[in-house]
Amino acid sequence: MFSSTLLAVASATLASAHTIITYPGWRGNNLLTNETFPYGMQWLYPCGGMPTTTNRTFWPTTGGAIAFQPGWFSGHSTAFIYVNLGVGNEGPELRPDLAGPPNMSHPMINPFQIIGPTKNPYPGTVCLPQVPLPAGTTVKAGDNATIQLVELALHGAALYSCVDITFAEPGDPRIPLINETNCFNSTDIGAADIYTLTMRESGSTIASPSAAAPALQKLAAWAYVPMLVGGMWALL
Ligand SMILES: *[C@@H]1O[C@H](CO)[C@@H](O)[C@H](O)[C@H]1NC(C)=O
Ligand SMILES: *[C@@H]1O[C@H](CO)[C@@H](O)[C@H](O)[C@H]1NC(C)=O
Ligand SMILES: *[C@@H]1O[C@H](CO)[C@@H](O)[C@H](O)[C@H]1NC(C)=O
Ligand SMILES: *[C@@H]1O[C@H](CO)[C@@H](O)[C@H](O)[C@H]1NC(C)=O
Ligand SMILES: *[C@@H]1O[C@H](CO)[C@@H](O)[C@H](O)[C@H]1NC(C)=O
Ligand SMILES: *[C@@H]1O[C@H](CO)[C@@H](O)[C@H](O)[C@H]1NC(C)=O
Repeated sequence: MFSSTLLAVASATLASAHTIITYPGWRGNNLLTNETFPYGMQWLYPCGGMPTTTNRTFWPTTGGAIAFQPGWFSGHSTAFIYVNLGVGNEGPELRPDLAGPPNMSHPMINPFQIIGPTKNPYPGTVCLPQVPLPAGTTVKAGDNATIQLVELALHGAALYSCVDITFAEPGDPRIPLINETNCFNSTDIGAADIYTLTMRESGSTIASPSAAAPALQKLAAWAYVPMLVGGMWALL
């Protein structure tokens, strides 16, 4: 299934880095751009323009693997990756019999950055072998849900892909096995943790000391430069 997906997509449009979920599957090929989706289908929240599907994949109630290929189009030398879960079927879809989750607001991982080899399209797979359920979520075998993969591009817009799943007990033979052929990290795609540094606490009028100290020192160093070269304050 993995290689046939690759072939199908390779022969599809190479329009403009988009993502393909290679495990546990995806809703379908949403890499296209046409008159209905003039900016490209995959930019559409929540699932890149693909409606809920009924050919669901079984996935463990205790969490499981997610593998994807993030480098299908250009412009994604780096990107942020998010994985979310949507549960329930009260979503506002046009076909009530096919309604998916009302939202995809339940993060399964801390977002991280991928570091690609180039800004041009690149091959390669990233696999997260054990993605847990969102904190506080309890599910049982037979429940349906949707996993959403978000690739946040350098300019802040996001690409969406989803896979519809049905939960099964770990070890259920209907869960596709993972092994080194469908769950691996390609060496050409690096990864980085994402940190934030508080500049100013909410409710505070002064910068937090930890962030402010180096910033103020830097400012002071700058202020001295024009004084040394003759007081050209206009440069500041
Ligand atoms: C579901 O069917 C669509 C349409 O045939 C296909 O593109 C997609 O890969 C299938 N998804 C899964 C998880 O098998
Ligand atoms: C664009 O592609 C989508 C998905 O295949 C399809 O539903 C839609 O009808 C297409 N639009 C046009 C104008 O061909
Ligand atoms: C899960 O979805 C399938 C169709 O994709 C549906 O037949 C089944 O009734 C759903 N199960 C539950 C518990 O809603
Ligand atoms: C998101 O969906 C869940 C059900 O999956 C619901 O309990 C929750 O209230 C929803 N959150 C928002 C912000 O709509
Ligand atoms: C890996 O698992 C897939 C099923 O998910 C199977 O088709 C394939 O043969 C397995 N490969 C190896 C090397 O065990
Ligand atoms: C792939 O890389 C990610 C990010 O560093 C890591 O969380 C994951 O465990 C790696 N997967 C494998 C199969 O080693």
